[in-house]
Amino acid sequence: MKLLQEKVLNEGIVLSDQVLKVDSFLNHQMDPVLMKEVGKEFARLFEGEKITKVLTIESSGIAPAIMAALELNVPMIFARKQKSLTLRENILVEKVYSFTKQESNEITVSKKFLLPEDRVLIIDDFLAHGEAALGLARIAEQVGAQVAGIGIVIEKSFQSGAERIKKAGYRVESLVRVASLEGGKVTFAAEEAVH
Ligand code: G4P
Repeated sequence: MKLLQEKVLNEGIVLSDQVLKVDSFLNHQMDPVLMKEVGKEFARLFEGEKITKVLTIESSGIAPAIMAALELNVPMIFARKQKSLTLRENILVEKVYSFTKQESNEITVSKKFLLPEDRVLIIDDFLAHGEAALGLARIAEQVGAQVAGIGIVIEKSFQSGAERIKKAGYRVESLVRVASLEGGKVTFAAEEAVH
């Protein structure tokens, strides 16, 4: 997605060979115009999949997920990382390990929002090692729902996530794929270089 690549090139800050900072449009300040286009693109990519719910994880997944859900005209659910005061019973729980932060989180979703007949589109802002996306897939599958696909805003293709997700049998669509952050520079996967 060209608009997103340009945003990454213009505003992304390479913090290390592993980490790209995009807090001016995705992770802290959010760009609603860009998010609207992101939502449209996910809706286009998964058009034929008969999606009934969009599932993401707080907090940065929420903006792209709600925009995709708006375009697909379905509800959006976000998994919580913190224990909710009101969400105590009938919850789906999965453990998700963050390689970046080296800590485990229990993510939770209320059972009442996911049904066995649902076809779920999982959306997340970043794909690193795939732990969050795979945890969300396990949540959906706990109730017998079908994971129709996984949509990612920024994939770091040099980390293991995309491979793990594909190996697990899921369709993954990433709007931009970063091949490398070496030398303080963002390099996109060859087939999507900006011209
Ligand atoms: P994984 O789910 O793909 O295995 O990723 P990982 O555990 O490594 O990532 C943990 C957190 O760090 C996630 O956000 C993820 O989006 C974010 N992250 C991973 N790599 C990058 C990166 O290169 N740049 C940025 N900006 N973020 C990255 P989170 O902790 O859930 O944060 P938030 O959604 O609450 O903002």
